Amino acid sequence: MTALLAISDLHIGYEENRRIVEDLRPGDPSDWLLVAGDVSEQVADLEWALSLLSHRFAKVVWAPGNHEMWTHPADAVQLRGEERYRHLVKVCRALGVVTPEDPYPTWTGPGGPVVIAPLFVLYDYTFRTPQAATKDEALALAYARDVVCTDEILLHPEPYASLDAWCAVRVAETERRLAALPPGVPTVLVNHYPLVREPTRVLRRPEFAIWCGTERTADWHLRFNARAVVYGHLHIPRTTWHDGVRFEEVSLGYPREWRPRSTPPGRLRQILPVP
Ligand SMILES: [Fe+2]
Ligand SMILES: [Fe+2]
Repeated sequence: MTALLAISDLHIGYEENRRIVEDLRPGDPSDWLLVAGDVSEQVADLEWALSLLSHRFAKVVWAPGNHEMWTHPADAVQLRGEERYRHLVKVCRALGVVTPEDPYPTWTGPGGPVVIAPLFVLYDYTFRTPQAATKDEALALAYARDVVCTDEILLHPEPYASLDAWCAVRVAETERRLAALPPGVPTVLVNHYPLVREPTRVLRRPEFAIWCGTERTADWHLRFNARAVVYGHLHIPRTTWHDGVRFEEVSLGYPREWRPRSTPPGRLRQILPVP
C-alpha cells in the first residue's frame, strides 16, 4: 500500500551510512519520502543522495539540517549562511525535491489529504537549563562543561548578526505561510529540530538542548493542525506524543549509534497512513 515515509540524519560522510542510503527503497513506487535534514556536510553528497532517492520515490521532501548548513573546510562549496541555504534550495529544485521555499504539497494517499510542510526555522538558544537565564549564560555553561555543538564553529548566520536573529526571521516567515493555509487543514510538519522542547529532556547532556530548537514553535503542532511532526537531529529515534499529536524522531544517526541497536538500520518510518 502507498505510504508517506520518513528518515533523517543520513550522515553519508560515513561509508556505512552511504551504503544504507544506496539500499533505501519505497515499498511501492507511489510512496513519498520526507528527509528531515543532516544528509551530509558536502553539497555534492546531498545532491547524490537526493538524486538517488528522487528517482526511487514518487516525491521527496527535504528540510535542511545543521550539517548541510555548515561551511565545512573540506566542502567544495564555501558559501555561508543564507547564501548557502539558497544554493541548497536550488540544488534540490533541480532534482525536483520539495524544499521549505516551495509551495507545500498535499499528500492525497492513504491517511490524506494532508498538507506536507517542510520547515527551516533553526534554533535560538531558548532551550536553556534552569541555571542559565540568557543565551550568553547558557553558552558559557556549555563551554565550561565542554558540551559545545560544532555549529558554533561551522554554522554561519550571514547576513544576520546571529543564529537567533536568523531564527526569528525564519520563524516569522514560516508562521506567515502556515497561517495562510486554509483553516483547519491537517498538516505534517517536517523540521530538523523538534518543535517542542520535551523530546530534548532525555539528552545525556542537557546543556546541548540550546542547539536543538526554539520555544517560538511550542504551539505550532496545535495551531497548524499537525497530524504528525517529523524531526531528527537528536539521534534518538522514537515516537512521542505531545498534546495528543504524534512526534516522530526518524534519525538514522552515526554508525556508532545504530550499530549496537537490535533493529536493522535504515528502516523508513511510516507517517501515513497511521501505522
Ligand atoms: Fe544529525
Ligand atoms: Fe542535526
